[in-house]
Amino acid sequence: MKIDVTEAIKLLNAGDVVALPTETVYGLAASIHHPEAISKIFLLKGRPSNNPLILHVNAVDQVLDYAEQIPPSFFDLVESFWPGPLTLVLKVRTEKVPSQARAGLATVAFRMPSHPLVRKILAKTPPLVMPSANLSGSPSATQAAHVETDFGLDFPVLDGGSSKVGLESTILFYQDDQWMIGRRGAIIHENFYPVLGYHPLIGDTREKPVCPGQMHRHYAPKAKLNLCYANMGLTGVVVGFSDKDYPKASKVFHLGTLTRPEQAASKLYAIFRQLDEEKITQVNVDMAFPRSGLWLTIVERLLKASAK
Ligand code: TXA
Ligand code: MG
Repeated sequence: MKIDVTEAIKLLNAGDVVALPTETVYGLAASIHHPEAISKIFLLKGRPSNNPLILHVNAVDQVLDYAEQIPPSFFDLVESFWPGPLTLVLKVRTEKVPSQARAGLATVAFRMPSHPLVRKILAKTPPLVMPSANLSGSPSATQAAHVETDFGLDFPVLDGGSSKVGLESTILFYQDDQWMIGRRGAIIHENFYPVLGYHPLIGDTREKPVCPGQMHRHYAPKAKLNLCYANMGLTGVVVGFSDKDYPKASKVFHLGTLTRPEQAASKLYAIFRQLDEEKITQVNVDMAFPRSGLWLTIVERLLKASAK
């Protein structure tokens, strides 16, 4: 059910859950002042209770209100990347944030989104927890229609068009005197150098993930994704690039051109969802694209989506 900004504000302040557009992906929102609505998000998504939620704010002062410690360079990061697709994990005063939102941790991940509609809402609500608006494990929603596919036509969603970025925010956390990347995302690690004076390391490992949500198969369509590293002879259904030919393919889903990773980022989840809509069970993904910048985030999502 499509709702407008006024209805979204009313529902959120009354303790309901609604889906909102952001520049990265759509989010399933609940007010930080309504713990029962936060619990409902976990139920709706089928999300494990040990996977904490990102708290979305409208002003840096709101973060300062919750935070117990502000690490060095926090304000530089915020000035450079907020509002936008950067999430910062901070130690918080735990009594101020319902424990289910934090999954019992003593930290909270904060983000100030830039989509104008979500900003209008955040101006009239308390901070909002907002995981991606998809069933747990499925591809994130980048259109209102994707939210309806996962949660039904009656579910309240504010339609803000297709998400511009199409991949989730980059998550940074502070450990051992440096910022580290907990989840690759829309902001590439090279962009942090001018602000931090160093390249943040990738802090997530498969043995001990820093962001609990990065542990499992994720972002995945029902179709089996075969990641194909050889350039030649891709057969069957192919996910590939418009500047290449796939003469042996029966059908090609295009991620755009090899020169524009932002294009591939914005199309990836919509293509995953289209595969399922067309009941395609197997697909060969052309992995012969660059390994730099945003492409590295795309590789990471493809690896997670094809994991057993
Ligand atoms: O772009 C985005 O970040 C989107 C939009 C809606 O803002 N949100 C999003 O939320 O991707 P979600 O719930 O799908 O992913 C949140 C990730 C999970 O991997 C979770 O484990 C991690 O953030 N996370 C949340 N709180 C954390 C914390 N305190 N410490 C470490 N990781 C945390
Ligand atoms: Mg998610």
